[in-house]
Amino acid sequence: MRRGILTIAAIGLVATGGLAACGEDSDEPGGSAATPKIGVILPDSASSDRWETADRKYLQAAFDAAGVESIIQNAQGDKAQFQTIADQMITSGVTALMIVNLDSGTGKAVLDKAKSQGVATIDYDRLTLGGSAEYYVSFDNEAVGKLQGEGLVKCLSDANAQKPVIATLNGSETDNNATLFKNGYESVLKPKYDANEYVKGPDQWVPEWDNTQAGTIFEQMLTQTGGKIDGVLAANDGLGNAAISILAKNNLNGKVPVTGQDATVQGLQNILKGDQCMTVYKAIKKEADAAAELAIALAKGERKDTGTTVTDPEGNREVPSVLLEPVAIYKDNVKDVVDDGFVTKEDLCGGEFAALCTEAGIS
Ligand code: BGC
Repeated sequence: MRRGILTIAAIGLVATGGLAACGEDSDEPGGSAATPKIGVILPDSASSDRWETADRKYLQAAFDAAGVESIIQNAQGDKAQFQTIADQMITSGVTALMIVNLDSGTGKAVLDKAKSQGVATIDYDRLTLGGSAEYYVSFDNEAVGKLQGEGLVKCLSDANAQKPVIATLNGSETDNNATLFKNGYESVLKPKYDANEYVKGPDQWVPEWDNTQAGTIFEQMLTQTGGKIDGVLAANDGLGNAAISILAKNNLNGKVPVTGQDATVQGLQNILKGDQCMTVYKAIKKEADAAAELAIALAKGERKDTGTTVTDPEGNREVPSVLLEPVAIYKDNVKDVVDDGFVTKEDLCGGEFAALCTEAGIS
């Protein structure tokens, strides 16, 4: 509850032209004596389209607009490579480092090392448990999960499903966000299970958010239940698409509501086709802008007040945070994602999707 209010306060700060400056202090990591240079490490390019198609683009644009030198690299899911990139960035003289960790353990090692070398750090999108980042910039991830749970409930009720069996494809167990998403959707679904309205079916974590493995896992779920799955809580569009492919193999696509997240082109197309029930749109431009603003301040040796904090349960620490608000997307508001400039009509509405786009009011 409190979180929601704080989230809005944090957005207010960003929206009203930036975070409050707390003054300069050249004794801080990344002190103002050094020329600002920002390093960013993205996690992979397979678990979601967002990292390469959205985050990289928006972060780069924000750094360029501020005239600050930057370097953005992708660890491609390789934890050793992640560490190597971080070392190279530190050696090359970055004054601030922003990471999307592959897991908290390896993320913490990178953050602690940067800190010991006087480099300021930011957790971007994923909180590093037990870590030492100066800031955490993300969305309200429990709210993301709640939207997914509520979305599934809405689509099942539209389909008039009776005592539906729900299969759950969680994200990677080592991603703190995946835990928060799960907390969010279980808060909606558990009361339904407890009231005997829904039946809890198979529930699994998908290692590294691997879309291929998700397909294998979902196929086993379908076999194991004798084909009796009536709704799929999939934690992002990639996992959702994996489930949809297996459902399609069994002529069940479009009959079983599937959720998602990230408003990827593929996810939105699956929604237009009627194979996916909903996705969650996270305005990544806002996330990138907020993170870039903080990284630029840190790189100059400044501190800003974000107005809210998140508790790191492992480090027992309050981490100054920016948490943005996610939005649920169904067939009738796919248009909003295009209007917001997150996906283009050209990318979304080619070939068989032209007519579906027109139908959905995308012009
Ligand atoms: C992000 C999601 C993304 C997933 C897989 C999560 O930490 O918040 O947007 O789909 O990782 O990359």
